[in-house]
Amino acid sequence: MTIVVKVGGASGNRLAPVLDEVALRPSEYVLVHGGSEEIDRLGTALGRPPRYYTSPSGTVSRHTDAAHLEVVILALAGSVQTRIVRELATRHVPAVGLSGVDGGLLTARRKEGARAVQDGRVVRVADDLSGSLESVRTDLIERLRQGGYVPVIGPPALTPEGEVVNVDADRVAARVAAALHADGLVLLTNVGGVLRDADDPRSLIPRVDASNEAEVMTAARGRMHKKVRAAIEAVRAGVGSAVIGPSAIPRPVAAALAGQGTVFV
Ligand SMILES: Nc1ncnc2c1ncn2[C@@H]1O[C@H](COP(=O)(O)OP(=O)(O)O)[C@@H](O)[C@H]1O
Ligand SMILES: [Mg+2]
Repeated sequence: MTIVVKVGGASGNRLAPVLDEVALRPSEYVLVHGGSEEIDRLGTALGRPPRYYTSPSGTVSRHTDAAHLEVVILALAGSVQTRIVRELATRHVPAVGLSGVDGGLLTARRKEGARAVQDGRVVRVADDLSGSLESVRTDLIERLRQGGYVPVIGPPALTPEGEVVNVDADRVAARVAAALHADGLVLLTNVGGVLRDADDPRSLIPRVDASNEAEVMTAARGRMHKKVRAAIEAVRAGVGSAVIGPSAIPRPVAAALAGQGTVFV
């Protein structure tokens, strides 16, 4: 059994419930993390506050110039990953934190020609060090699991030219799940799932299939948009089940796999 779980990194997420659950059957899990709140906190503390841009299609992306990439690396490969590995250790679960750079785990192609909408006009974002994922080295993940370690994986990734680039953690989770032929992908988040109206917690969309996929892509704005794309990508790639569900409940993974949240089929 292989379940890839992406733990939420925005405020309002809870980490303890999912780690308690991992501790019950560690060999079944591969964890992926982002950490937008910590990146923003650390960047602000270092005098490098975050910047975001909105693409013409409505996707909100972090503007990762060279100075901000340093903050991304410090936050994700540093504090966020160490915290997850430490909290698993306190639960007697040996875990190994890996950025996509370690062992060539995640390779990506640098995104050229990112476009942003600024004051109603479309402009080029020239200095963005973000990438699209190309490949996942599953042998590294499998060796760790065979050794009894829970892999804890996060951005950034490495390009064939040897550049470090930021990649979206939800997409990392989807690609890792696909590469491992995982039974399930669970994207835990700070809301109950994908909402028809982001401001109305009661407007949960319980199920996404080919018939309402386009409608859901429109409803999911901003950062939820990427999560929806990741879930759809995973299901298309053959992952048994993909769910976007809440992190702040007991046994969040079992709940998601039992249908709590938004299930993609
Ligand atoms: N249709 C929607 N349904 C649910 N959340 C949405 C929707 N549109 C936008 N969002 C926003 O997406 C957020 C979840 O994504 P994000 O902040 O990146 O958290 P995470 O740490 O889980 O990746 C929600 O808290 C909400 O503000
Ligand atoms: Mg996010």
